Amino acid sequence: MANKCNAILSLLLLLLVGTSHGGGIAIYWGQNGNEGTLSQACATAKYSHVNIAFLNNFGNGQTPQMNLAGHCNPSILNSCTKFSAEIKDCQSKGIKVLLSIGGGIGNYSLSSIEDARNVSKFLWNTFLGGKSPSRPLGDAVLDGVDFDIELGSTANWEHLARFLKAYSRRGREVYLAAAPQCPIPDRFLGTALNTGLFDFVWVQFYNNPPCSYANGNITNLLNSWSRWTNTVPATNIFLGLPAAPAAAGSGYIPPDVLTNQILPEIKKSPKYGGVMLWSRFYDVKNGYSDSIVNSV
Ligand SMILES: *[C@@H]1O[C@H](CO)[C@@H](O)[C@H](O)[C@H]1NC(C)=O
Ligand SMILES: *[C@@H]1O[C@H](CO)[C@@H](O)[C@H](O)[C@H]1NC(C)=O
Ligand SMILES: *[C@@H]1O[C@H](CO)[C@@H](O)[C@H](O)[C@H]1NC(C)=O
Repeated sequence: MANKCNAILSLLLLLLVGTSHGGGIAIYWGQNGNEGTLSQACATAKYSHVNIAFLNNFGNGQTPQMNLAGHCNPSILNSCTKFSAEIKDCQSKGIKVLLSIGGGIGNYSLSSIEDARNVSKFLWNTFLGGKSPSRPLGDAVLDGVDFDIELGSTANWEHLARFLKAYSRRGREVYLAAAPQCPIPDRFLGTALNTGLFDFVWVQFYNNPPCSYANGNITNLLNSWSRWTNTVPATNIFLGLPAAPAAAGSGYIPPDVLTNQILPEIKKSPKYGGVMLWSRFYDVKNGYSDSIVNSV
């Protein structure tokens, strides 16, 4: 009898866990000083992944530089190391914290395979498990690197992915993420994605009307989602969205449309990983993740 009860209890628990862990919410943090701290973001318990944005100058032999808007000045010694404890705090809650490289403003490109190798070594020593006298985010070891490549040269990103993934050690995976635009193939990241090395791909379903939500019509978005999940070799694919109308030029989806019409469809894919939001600043203003978190 007790055994039977235990078995039923376990089954119930399994079902419960199975439904409540459908997907996560990934958030970009770092591009607005008024969005609150990393610890505050992680304390909401709404996010599964935080991308610290951005390292936006690197490659082509340049001295790499971060930009964290009003949060701190990475070029001043120890200005941003206060975030080390906050990164560890987020990680202790099971949240993966990644460094996002690239972005819409900056100067970055990889001039050769050797340049890609040098950048991978810099990232490993400065933000991941390596050592460097100059670590702007302190001694916290980030979980991986997010490629938000939107400008410069399209070449050599697959080599950077390969070199970074090779730093994975037993028990300490270097996670790779990417934020391609929804048209396939992505001009900058298509070749890199085809390596199959990316763990999390948060596709930007915004600023791209042919594959985004527009004028109340979900057809183009669902068709594009199905192409991503059926043709791109990534482990987890996320629906990337603006967290407020002002967060992007187009593609904002009212929360009720997302939860009633879109999530039930896209969750059918075994590659569904959740929703990515740009950005923490807009999410705080609009309360978007509050509205969707129970449906994700
Ligand atoms: C890569 O790093 C090595 C060693 O620091 C340096 O000599 C070389 O010029 C770098 N290559 C590029 C393309 O920056
Ligand atoms: C970007 O960096 C390269 C290499 O340092 C430099 O030659 C180029 O002038 C820079 N471009 C801009 C727009 O700053
Ligand atoms: C929605 O968009 C699709 C693709 O562009 C189009 O074929 C369809 O007619 C649209 N549906 C409505 C209700 O406008």
